[in-house]
Amino acid sequence: MTSQMTASRQPAVPRVIVFGNEKGGTGKSTLAMHLAVALLNRGLKVATIDLDARQGTISRYVANRRLFAERTGHAVPMPEHLALHMSPHQIIESDLANALDHVAHCAVVVIDTPGHDSALSQAGHAYADVLVTPINDSLIDLDILAHVDPHKQTILRPSHYAERVWKAKQARAKRDGGSMDWVVVRNRLGQLEARNKKLMERLVGDLAKRIGFRVADGIHERVIYRELFLDGLTAEDLAMLSQGREVAMSHVAARQEIRNLMRALGLPEALQTGLASTI
Ligand SMILES: Nc1ncnc2c1ncn2[C@@H]1O[C@H](COP(=O)(O)OP(=O)(O)OP(=O)(O)O)[C@@H](O)[C@H]1O
Ligand SMILES: [Mg+2]
Repeated sequence: MTSQMTASRQPAVPRVIVFGNEKGGTGKSTLAMHLAVALLNRGLKVATIDLDARQGTISRYVANRRLFAERTGHAVPMPEHLALHMSPHQIIESDLANALDHVAHCAVVVIDTPGHDSALSQAGHAYADVLVTPINDSLIDLDILAHVDPHKQTILRPSHYAERVWKAKQARAKRDGGSMDWVVVRNRLGQLEARNKKLMERLVGDLAKRIGFRVADGIHERVIYRELFLDGLTAEDLAMLSQGREVAMSHVAARQEIRNLMRALGLPEALQTGLASTI
C-alpha cells in the first residue's frame, strides 16, 4: 500500500487538514485525534499539530498514547506531534510554516485549533487544504456560522466564523494560489431528537449552498469517543488490539463513522486507494 501511495502522491506535499470552529467544545480535538489514528492505523505517516497548546487536549491525547505504549508494550502507531505556543515575540506565520516544513515528509498533517479566535488559529486556517468544522447539533452552535430567523426558521445571514473562513480562504489563495475545501460535520447527534435533527439538517443544508461548504455524515454521541482519552486510544485501536475478537456494536459504528469522515474529506485519490485496500 505505502509504495503505491508514495509513487503517486506528490512528495513533500502533505495534505493539511485543519479542525476549526470558534465555538468551544464541539469535538475538534476528539475528531482530529480519531482521524489521525485512523490514518496511522492504515500505515500512513501522520503529523499532528496543536495550535491550542495552552489547553493542549490533542497534545495530552498523544502523550497518553505514548505512555500507553510504554506501559503495555503495544506498538500503537504514533503521529509526529508538534505543539505551537502563542508568544508576543514570535512571528506566528513563519513558526507555523517552519512546523509544516518539519513534517513535510508526512502524508497528512492534522491541525487542531482552539475554540476561539487567535492569531495562531487564523494562521492555521489559512494553511488548510481541508477545513473540518464540527458543530454540535444545536441552534446555539449553528449561530456561530449563521443567524437564523426565529419565526421562519430560515437562514438570515452568515455570521462571524463564516466570515473568518472566507478571509482564511483569501489568505490561502494569496499565499500559494491554493484552495480550501470546507467540510462541516454535525457531531454528538442524539438518537431521539428527531425534530431538532430535521431542522438542523435543513438549515445546515441551506447554509452549505449559500456559503460554500460540504456537509459530511454526522457523528453520534457515543461513550467510546471519550472514554479512551486517558490511554490515548480510539475505537480503531481497540479493534486492532483485540485482534479479531468480538467488539461492541457501538465501537463498530464509531469506526464506520470515522471511515465515512475520511471519505468525506476527499483525501487524494492515491490515499483513498490505500485506505480502501485496508478497510
Ligand atoms: N461524538 C462524541 N460523543 C461523545 N462525546 C464527545 C463526542 N465528541 C466530543 N465529545 C466530548 O465532548 C467534549 C468536547 O470535545 P472536544 O474537547 O474534542 O471539543 P473541542 O472542540 O476540541 O473543544 P475546545 O474548543 O475546548 O478545544 C469532550 O468531553 C469530548 O470527550
Ligand atoms: Mg480542543
